[in-house]
Amino acid sequence: MHIIHLLTVIIWIGGLSFITIIVIPMLIRWDDPLQKAITFQSIEHRFAPIARIYNIITGVTGFVMVYLTGWYKLYHTAKGLPLLIMTLIWLVWFVMLFGLEPLIVKKMLDRMIKSGVKMEIEAVFARMNRMHWVLLTISLVASVAGIVFAHGYL
Ligand code: HEM
Repeated sequence: MHIIHLLTVIIWIGGLSFITIIVIPMLIRWDDPLQKAITFQSIEHRFAPIARIYNIITGVTGFVMVYLTGWYKLYHTAKGLPLLIMTLIWLVWFVMLFGLEPLIVKKMLDRMIKSGVKMEIEAVFARMNRMHWVLLTISLVASVAGIVFAHGYL
């Protein structure tokens, strides 16, 4: 369980880092607004369904580990604080991937392609850029919380 949890997190957050640090800044510098909108939309449409699978695997393996070891009791202690942080951040991701992404983000990207207006595309990119940095930051916080918890640093 531990190995699956860790490998899934590596692939998931690694992919998110690549999109946030490499892909989005590169696309922002492209001149053709429609070309960058289409490229970003196809990357995001491919990544989002896979990220949902990573989120489920991370959650299932995490909760099974908590259940098997009885660590759920730790949620109420200071030692369990990193576990609580990891769980809450996972929940933010769950709501994002299964609620907000299909309802808001996907629609926003589709509208951006249809409108093709440069101003709107730039505004959506600025918002997407900010959103990805926030998600990457909280994911790294969850990873640090996991390491602190797994290695008993608290
Ligand atoms: C955004 C979601 C999550 C991320 C990025 C994440 C990340 C991590 C990381 C990096 C570790 C450290 C492994 C190590 O150092 O060996 C870890 C361990 C752990 N995670 Fe998560 N995790 C997430 C969600 C969850 C959830 C939802 C649970 C269940 C409530 C959970 C339960 C655990 C447990 C119990 C460990 C300790 C394993 C051990 O000590 O063997 N995680 N996690």
